[in-house]
Amino acid sequence: MARLTHKHILLGVTGGIAAYKSAELIRRLRDAGAEVQVVMTEAAQSFITPLTLQALSGNPVHVDLLDPTAEAAMGHIELARWADLFLVAPASADAIARLAQGIANDLLTTCWLAAAGKKAVAPAMNQQMWADPATQANLDTLRQRGVAVFGPGAGVQACGDVGAGRLLEAVELAGLCADQFQSGQLTGVEVVLTAGPTREALDPVRYLSNHSSGKMGFALAEACREAGARVTLIAGPVHLPTPERVQRVDITSACDLLAASETAVTQAVARVGSARTVFIATAAVADYRPARVAGQKIKKGDKDDTLELTLIRNPDIVASIAARADRPLVMGFAAETHAVEDYARDKLARKRLDLIACNDVSRSDIGFQSDDNAMVVFWPDAALPAGVGRAELAKASKTQIARQLVSLLAARLPASESAGHAPAPGDPSQTRHADEQL
Ligand code: C5P
Repeated sequence: MARLTHKHILLGVTGGIAAYKSAELIRRLRDAGAEVQVVMTEAAQSFITPLTLQALSGNPVHVDLLDPTAEAAMGHIELARWADLFLVAPASADAIARLAQGIANDLLTTCWLAAAGKKAVAPAMNQQMWADPATQANLDTLRQRGVAVFGPGAGVQACGDVGAGRLLEAVELAGLCADQFQSGQLTGVEVVLTAGPTREALDPVRYLSNHSSGKMGFALAEACREAGARVTLIAGPVHLPTPERVQRVDITSACDLLAASETAVTQAVARVGSARTVFIATAAVADYRPARVAGQKIKKGDKDDTLELTLIRNPDIVASIAARADRPLVMGFAAETHAVEDYARDKLARKRLDLIACNDVSRSDIGFQSDDNAMVVFWPDAALPAGVGRAELAKASKTQIARQLVSLLAARLPASESAGHAPAPGDPSQTRHADEQL
């Protein structure tokens, strides 16, 4: 079981006797596949050394907000942004109070404010401190902000008291961390997703292609899986491992991609109906392919200073899927270098999409090969003055962007009474047309 594969967990350790349990927790998180970075308060270092946690996490431990060397290696904002989940365990009463108040007077609390991913605290304190109304009010504040509270457990405490306030065991905490990534937003939904570049053969050794890394599509496949969907990922040639429990189909050319997409969508619709099927097109499909693929390697002649290629148009896969009578919910992507939003809106309407996510690939800090992205998403919404809804997703890791895209997608799915039921053949109520929403 590796339920935390590829997940970045930032573990905040605060001062309390239970800090020794963070050593075991790091092991459990790594056993579950997570990458772990640790940030400690000054008080925590009186209970367990940074060196121990460094050895167990395999990463330098972060302790000081004003350490220029540490900041040069991985600055606190970068560390906060790196985290898919920031878990403070053990969380002392003092740390909980500072987090609830938004105080940023050390590295841990500063990272907490700067973190955009999921957040959790695992309280550990004396039972009287736990029961104090101030502690409970602080925890309510954190819960209202979407922070998960893990435990505490009850029993005999280090001080000899008996009651609530014990840090949960490491194995329980690791399980709860994994649960944070299972949203259930796409339970009963089938997702067919295209990713990566296509390669269009010129001859047996050469091809036309592009710089797509496939990272955004793979992150999205994983996020859909986490949200409970059954996922078929149709991938062009990329160097990425297949996300767990995702079915992968490898293709090379745009024509292969169309055939694989049609097959996967037909199978998905047969299983759950078009209203519970989603097609996501992140692939960077070559718009044209050579009209003729040479059977042998094309040779250059001594006098050939130029070579002319005739290219023919490839099928538009996402538009083909959107044109099906049994169309699923269709989401496209638009990578542009200029007039990004205008082109995206145009494609939304022209390709009859239900959603489009666009990004500016002229920016060097996001896009094709980067681990980060920033996007603007549009969808048809007749109730809005412009006829389109719009959501802006600020720069974040592709994993975090993928989760936000899943939430936007889930919101566009019809209500789920029909979840898991295939439509009756020809039942028009099961068919969604983009025009209805425009
Ligand atoms: O037209 P453009 O390539 O900019 O459109 C981008 C969107 O269309 C992406 O979602 C891409 O996966 C999809 N697309 C496609 N088949 C093509 C070209 C683009 O599915 N031949």
